[in-house]
Amino acid sequence: MVTAYDHPTATIASAAGVDLILVGDTVGDNVLGYADTLHVTIEDMEHHVAAVARAKPDCLVVGDMPWMSYHVSAEETVRNAARLIRAGAECVKLEGGRKRVRVIEALINAEIPVMGHVGLTPQSVHALGGMRVQGRSVDGATVLLDDAAAIVAAGCFAVVIEGVPDAVGAAVTAAIDVPTIGIGAGPGCDGQVLVFHDVLGLGTRRTAKFVRQYANLAETGTKALAEFAADVRSGAFPGPAESYEASDELRHALSQAPDPTGESDPGRR
Ligand code: KIV
Repeated sequence: MVTAYDHPTATIASAAGVDLILVGDTVGDNVLGYADTLHVTIEDMEHHVAAVARAKPDCLVVGDMPWMSYHVSAEETVRNAARLIRAGAECVKLEGGRKRVRVIEALINAEIPVMGHVGLTPQSVHALGGMRVQGRSVDGATVLLDDAAAIVAAGCFAVVIEGVPDAVGAAVTAAIDVPTIGIGAGPGCDGQVLVFHDVLGLGTRRTAKFVRQYANLAETGTKALAEFAADVRSGAFPGPAESYEASDELRHALSQAPDPTGESDPGRR
């Protein structure tokens, strides 16, 4: 699974053959310029899910429920999730463990498949006291295992596990009978997810330890734009290949036309 936030990123992800696209609330820090995901609204997510869906990607599209879109009531949760489904998502993802059981059940009763997300849940950054690896102690790992079991019992069809020791990722994967998708949770998960901008080196943020960058599009893009700007300034762009050629007749007519500036007529100076 990889994140995508718009038509071109979804088209690239689909062409690359990923199994799932997550229209993540990381759109906030990767695209919209926020410091975290907490400023992202359901309207933002609806807009980006729709853009991804218009690319008709050849894989499952997961719409991420932003902070405060599923925290108030089950009814509000279902209405918000329906907005993402109508925008083109085929299921939704939400963060949290046993606290979320009621809203997960309400979504499933409304025929909306739900992907869970446990461990380091970025929407809880303040409650967790920062972006810290979770489940490092025996007690912490036990809480995580119980949380994963609770949301699977509530009906989640898959669970993202973020920011936990590798052995905890493997233990959760062994303990539940739906697929796990890890991000900073070690190789023992069934699948892996990364943020599009991190994989392609398109981001401006410092990346986490768990990121592997496969390209440096920020560097390639900066070099390409600098060449474009230099070519425009020197007159090397556009050239004949990028211009529409005028017929001889048109050229001749234009050369006969009076000069509107009067600069070629010394009498008018
Ligand atoms: O929003 C997101 O991109 C995510 C992934 C990093 C799992 O939740």
